[in-house]
Amino acid sequence: MRLTILSRSVRIASTARLVEAARARGHAVQVLDPVQVEMHLDRDRATLYYRRRRLPSTDAVIPRIAQSISTYGMAVVNQFALQGVPLLNGTQGISGARNKMRCLQLLASNGVNIPATVMARSAGDLRAMVKLVGGVPVLVKLLRGQERRGVMVCESLASLEAALEAILGLGQDLILQQYVRRGGLDVRVLVVGGEAVAAVRRRPRMNRLAHTLNRGARLEPIALSEAQRSAAVKTARLVGLEVAGVDLIDVRGQPKVFEVNASPALAEMERATGLDLASRIVARVEALVAESAPVGRRAQTRVRPLPRAQVR
Ligand SMILES: Nc1ncnc2c1ncn2[C@@H]1O[C@H](COP(=O)(O)OP(=O)(O)O)[C@@H](O)[C@H]1O
Ligand SMILES: [Mg+2]
Repeated sequence: MRLTILSRSVRIASTARLVEAARARGHAVQVLDPVQVEMHLDRDRATLYYRRRRLPSTDAVIPRIAQSISTYGMAVVNQFALQGVPLLNGTQGISGARNKMRCLQLLASNGVNIPATVMARSAGDLRAMVKLVGGVPVLVKLLRGQERRGVMVCESLASLEAALEAILGLGQDLILQQYVRRGGLDVRVLVVGGEAVAAVRRRPRMNRLAHTLNRGARLEPIALSEAQRSAAVKTARLVGLEVAGVDLIDVRGQPKVFEVNASPALAEMERATGLDLASRIVARVEALVAESAPVGRRAQTRVRPLPRAQVR
């Protein structure tokens, strides 16, 4: 098949692995930088250009849309969706995962356990809000950063107040979340096509100065418990992702899902587990392409109506 990967660069380790795995399975692969894709749209046509050249048809697309170009990248993904090209993942799933609060709302309302979370636009009533998430220390998560979203731990009401004042003053949205520490296992599960295919435990190194988590975390392979597996698989299904990195904190056998990633890092996880995860993903693309009944050559320009939920 002819596979298109949407990614800022072929030098990104996960992108490089996908290219390698797809070529090894005999596919033709092109990597397109989403911001260099142009889209033409009218009532009858949804056409794509790359650096002003009309794009030849492709059998499937793997979007790996960086946070920093989210809006433009999602328009490109959606343009492929209009052409009926199978996507791994689709627009609905990617944007559903990116909106942290909406994602948590979806999970909680469908019976997936999450850490207690509060969202607010003002620092008033801080005490009451902090109480709702189990008191300090509390996690503050910024929601709308263009580059990386930030997470910080606030150990006291005073430090939290200062942080909130600064963040809200900049017009940033945030959530406060129960900070699970003692006995909490930080787990990333990779779900592909509804199956948990790999799992690692992360040991985040806390930066003492900034109290930022997640940088330089060490990954160790783990065997999934049944509760972890089913929480991860259910999460991917609810959010609508074929490929998902589901992050959860396991507290005494009770997994609480706190984040879902639609473009999970593959290379690090492969190194930690020794598994060929890129090939699992390419195999899933092959299955989806085989399922999407090929009616001769795909009509490249016809606009297909999207399911309602996908139009955002
Ligand atoms: N509720 C929580 N309790 C304890 N640690 C958490 C919690 N939520 C997130 N973390 C830690 O903080 C890191 C970053 O949080 P995350 O929600 O994934 O934000 P980001 O958008 O930066 O990926 C996680 O990888 C995890 O190690
Ligand atoms: Mg994360």
